Amino acid sequence: MTKEKIQLEIERLRKELERHNILYYTNDRPEISDREFDVLLENLIQLEKNNPEFFDPNSPSQRVGGSISKSFETVFHQRPMLSLGNTYSLEELGEFTSRVEKSLGSFPEFVCELKYDGAAISLLYEKGQLSKGITRGDGMKGDDITVNIRTIHNIPLKLKGENIPDILEVRGEIFMPLEGFQKMNEERLEMGLEPFANPRNSASGSLKMQDSSEVAKRPLDCFIYALQTNLDFSQSHWENLQYCEALGFKVPSGDMRRSCQNLKEIEEFITLWDVQRSQLPFDVDGVVIKVNQLALQDELGFTAKSPRWAIAYKFETERAETVLETIEYQVGRTGAITPVANLLSVQLAGTTVKRASLHNADQIRKLGLHYSDSVFVEKGGEIIPKIVGVNLQKRQSDAKEVQYISHCPECATELIREEGEAQHYCPNTFNCKPQILGRLEHFISRKAMDIEGIGPETLDLLLSNQLISNIADLYTLNEAELLQLDRVGQKLAGNILDGIEQSKLQSFEKVLFGLGIRYVGETVSKKLARAFKSMDGLIAADKESLLQVDEIGERIADSLIRFLHAQYNLELIERLKSYGLQMRIEEQEGASDLLKGKSIVVSGTFEHFSRDSIKLEIEKHGGKVSSSVSSKTSFIIAGSDMGPAKRQKAGSLNVEILNEEDFIKMIS
Ligand code: IVH
Repeated sequence: MTKEKIQLEIERLRKELERHNILYYTNDRPEISDREFDVLLENLIQLEKNNPEFFDPNSPSQRVGGSISKSFETVFHQRPMLSLGNTYSLEELGEFTSRVEKSLGSFPEFVCELKYDGAAISLLYEKGQLSKGITRGDGMKGDDITVNIRTIHNIPLKLKGENIPDILEVRGEIFMPLEGFQKMNEERLEMGLEPFANPRNSASGSLKMQDSSEVAKRPLDCFIYALQTNLDFSQSHWENLQYCEALGFKVPSGDMRRSCQNLKEIEEFITLWDVQRSQLPFDVDGVVIKVNQLALQDELGFTAKSPRWAIAYKFETERAETVLETIEYQVGRTGAITPVANLLSVQLAGTTVKRASLHNADQIRKLGLHYSDSVFVEKGGEIIPKIVGVNLQKRQSDAKEVQYISHCPECATELIREEGEAQHYCPNTFNCKPQILGRLEHFISRKAMDIEGIGPETLDLLLSNQLISNIADLYTLNEAELLQLDRVGQKLAGNILDGIEQSKLQSFEKVLFGLGIRYVGETVSKKLARAFKSMDGLIAADKESLLQVDEIGERIADSLIRFLHAQYNLELIERLKSYGLQMRIEEQEGASDLLKGKSIVVSGTFEHFSRDSIKLEIEKHGGKVSSSVSSKTSFIIAGSDMGPAKRQKAGSLNVEILNEEDFIKMIS
């Protein structure tokens, strides 16, 4: 392909991918399968890689992130990002509309929208291309977080349509939908990490992360609520929003936006959404009411802090008051202690609430909790509500302050709290019952060894009857032992033993995950299995080589080393191995798709490979070996005596030349 043709193809792919991106993320109307999308994306990535002169920061290939920002640059907003005046009362809302009516001489048309609960963002487009994403900051200046913004799929990188103003600014809200938030928190808990407090905090926290490929993994979304640029063809906010939609932005419409001609219609919109908001897949904290005509907005102007033409009506958070009865301390499988409050039952947002999460000792101290306190509970994005405050007026004079426990409620061992950790831990790993039980439950769970026939109660029975005390003991159980247990007959015993036997077929990555090593979740287990191939390989790995694996940081590496150097665990692993569990990845699994879609030329002689074995190695990782250099060649692996003709051809086609070491690094 000539350079012009390549450039045209790159542009075609970018347009096509961006179109599918919008269809999928913004319009919820995909036209192609995920797989087809991935193929197009992979083609683009290859072409861009081989033709770096066509780099474009707004290429859809950049959505995966990858750049690290040490700190974000501070930038001034073109116009200040003001806040909105707000009220909780319909009476005050009436005063606002009367004020506006009086100033303008008649009651204007208002647009009612939802007030999305996330983080405000200003997006700047130059010649239709995203050029800056800036946080609100102090209203005058904010952080330039463009690299992170590019990873959010429903923010267009290039605007759709023609005659787009050279410079265009929109503002909107970045938020985390509830489902994504829940899922992310579940994963964090599974990894022993502290869950995020609510969707709003996790959205604003995500935006400030320094590694944009981490931001790309966060389920962020964006609604646009204002166009800042004046257009000849639009006289109103409503038309502006329609134009934003046409440009490719996600703008809530339908029921979520209404034009109102009088106060009654505004109140209807508010009442509707005060009830209906609990059904939305994202958090909203009120309704924003805006004068629609731009000329009238100009006439009303601004105060120092907020526009005179708009107001936010905030919903009361659903909150209930009840009494704190006791605090229970739960011990997880990693030994982490989680305090949970038992409350006098109370109704909240349609459900009966009896328990509330307290997270950790700091939380209890911050609230200054005393026993029998009257406490306020609220529902955030979480399943179990939380205590947000204490009604001090109702505190009894002799109330005792809650003292965090110093010893494990189950085994009485003194708790520890490591530096930088919010959680207290019980260090009695091997003899504390809930930890043993928790590890067993984790080991047999569906995502790990998936042992059917055994449930938590059976495990408890086995443990109490001293038939097992760790995961390896499961593999020594026999029928006679099982039949001693209450409620276990021949059939159930058979099912249990079958389930255990079957589990020996589970892959190494599942065994690794099943061990329940702190911070080693499903994904990390997969990566480790791939990188080290076997349990022995992993045990032998030093911190340095652990850190080289994608996604493995200090915390995970330290935890792995601690676990894999403990004699108890090594013995456990030895036993599991002797019972026939999978302790290495199978040969085909040794393969990866690291070189998928790559066409590779091999030239010269090598130190670690024969010509045949290097070819096999390439194929094992999904690459294709090609005999001659062409514009399709992804790269050349050059041995000690690569011919000059090939070298020259590679140079003229801009094909990268790797040496043997580079290649080994690439596939390891
Ligand atoms: S209009 C001049 N519309 O609420 C201010 N803001 O205090 C124009 N917000 O942080 C803002 N949903 O990010 C507007 N539909 C909506 C909104 C909205 C959420 C946020 C905004 C800002 C705060 C205003």
